[in-house]
Amino acid sequence: MADDAPPPGIDARVPNPARMYNYFLGGKDNFAADREAAERVMSVAPEAPSLARRNRAFLRRAVRHLVTEAGIRQFVDIGTGLPTEGSVHEVAHELDPGVRVAYVDNDPVVLAHARALLSGATATTVTVHGDLRRPEEILADPELRSLIDLSEPVAVLLVAVLHFLSDDDKPAELVTRLGESVAPGSHLVLSHVTDEERAGDAREGAAVYRQASNGVTLRSREQIHELFGGFRLIEPGLVPLDDWRPDDENLLARQAGRHLPTWFLCGVGHAP
Ligand SMILES: C[S@@+](CC[C@H](N)C(=O)[O-])C[C@H]1O[C@@H](n2cnc3c(N)ncnc32)[C@H](O)[C@@H]1O
Repeated sequence: MADDAPPPGIDARVPNPARMYNYFLGGKDNFAADREAAERVMSVAPEAPSLARRNRAFLRRAVRHLVTEAGIRQFVDIGTGLPTEGSVHEVAHELDPGVRVAYVDNDPVVLAHARALLSGATATTVTVHGDLRRPEEILADPELRSLIDLSEPVAVLLVAVLHFLSDDDKPAELVTRLGESVAPGSHLVLSHVTDEERAGDAREGAAVYRQASNGVTLRSREQIHELFGGFRLIEPGLVPLDDWRPDDENLLARQAGRHLPTWFLCGVGHAP
């Protein structure tokens, strides 16, 4: 992204979590302020880029599992983030090109990028402006409804997004409301930052986000568990990123890598 020419309405001086995450993943869609903030996080949490990659790997494994084992054919990915390799529809389409994906984010930069990237997959994807704090509006969006049939099971992805909601936003209540709006057999895919380990470093890293456009709320295992609302966790439950149904790729990464602090917990739930 050209540092001297941010798109209209975008303040490139304020670090933005989606662009910081893009920097962690080795992307180019970030400005100097994002890179500086991301580097500050990495000074206390050098594992941040590795955790971002592992979070993406969890997302891919969960999508594959839901398509192959749970028969899910439609996804609503809320807090999509800037497009990166292995987006939900790319992973799902390797298994079934008919899978439909609605991408939802509240960040105009993310939406502009997503729309450009998805112009080749308009029959099976839509990009919608929506805020997780208003779940009913997301699910009522006419564009989303033109693709997603809410009378059929759907997988709602809340991957690395709920920690951008404060406790005042009542995130568990929002997820419960989402769960009540989807058909039985629907699933929820969730990952969230925690200070389970090396709490001081985790808090220092999270503190950098206070100067960003969106703060981070670290939550305990119990608090993250509560965020599943009415969704029931499937095996292996709420676990560190690498431990959710590992495949050959992340088994190899685990063998090669040193121990990473448990700064993310993840899981998949289903709506009975
Ligand atoms: C760290 S990125 C995660 C991207 C992707 N889900 C992943 O895990 O790779 C978080 C995304 O959530 C979005 N986001 C934050 N708060 C949101 C909200 N209230 N409603 C919708 N999206 C939100 C941000 O704009 C950003 O794109």
